[in-house]
Amino acid sequence: MAGAIRLNLELGGCTAAVVGGSSGIGAATARVLAEEGCDVALTYRRSAAGAERTAEEVRAHGRRAWALPLDLTRPESARAGGTALAAEAGDLDVLVLNAGYNVVTPFERISVDEWREVLETNLSGAFFTLQALAPRVRPGGAIVTVASVAAQTGAPHHMHYAAAKAGLVNLTKSMARELGPQVRVNCVAPGITLTPMGQDAIDTLPEDYATTSLLLQRYATPQRVAQLIALVASPVTEYMTGATIDMNSGRFLR
Ligand SMILES: NC(=O)c1ccc[n+]([C@@H]2O[C@H](COP(=O)([O-])OP(=O)(O)OC[C@H]3O[C@@H](n4cnc5c(N)ncnc54)[C@H](OP(=O)(O)O)[C@@H]3O)[C@@H](O)[C@H]2O)c1
Repeated sequence: MAGAIRLNLELGGCTAAVVGGSSGIGAATARVLAEEGCDVALTYRRSAAGAERTAEEVRAHGRRAWALPLDLTRPESARAGGTALAAEAGDLDVLVLNAGYNVVTPFERISVDEWREVLETNLSGAFFTLQALAPRVRPGGAIVTVASVAAQTGAPHHMHYAAAKAGLVNLTKSMARELGPQVRVNCVAPGITLTPMGQDAIDTLPEDYATTSLLLQRYATPQRVAQLIALVASPVTEYMTGATIDMNSGRFLR
């Protein structure tokens, strides 16, 4: 049953970009979008090999793929990377701002440099990438940002990350107001997901955390988060903009 679920997302022939497509949720999103018929441009910071692997998986679906470097901690790289991406892939139907960075550090030990890197990656870099790429999203297209349940709950051991993701939720609303009615902008806010980043968080938690603290008693898979991102990017949700969609096993209930 689980492996058989397949939605018609009406994304065939689209061009998509996934910022942070070399690992985890971003790589899964690139694969899902390719399965749905999209050409995919994806970016990486350090994992050129991971990006190329994902690009190969996209090509295996008969779609075009490009892998490009883009470092969100440097505004000039975010802008230049966005511009280079659009030059390669052309105008976009879907833009997924997925890249993120988390580090678990108690409040009193967060340094100035660490605070800046987390804010720059998760919030400022997203803004500068949007400045470069939002004008290249075609009318009728969609932008999806990826925040976190931490944006809503707060997180004492990674409050820089939680604050940045809360900012990203708000930036999503501003961008929806800025780009409507031509382009929709929505946010997906996952809970802990089984990726390299998620595993780092899980390693700091009690062994029974999922069974005692999550209503569904398990962590998310990157595939399911990716499918939600694709759904939010697709015309199936054409009447939705400025929204934040929770997928967090009931960790935060509105
Ligand atoms: N996993 C979770 O539990 C969880 C929960 C809630 C929200 N999220 C969010 O979901 C998104 C994906 O996370 P993930 O779990 O898939 O993480 P991941 O496996 O660590 O992948 C992170 C991606 O972001 C890219 N990236 C990191 N820093 C960057 C920078 N400075 N500039 C450009 N790209 C950068 C990475 O590129 P390289 O690998 O090439 O450096 C990689 O492609 C993130 O926004 C994360 O905050 C994750």
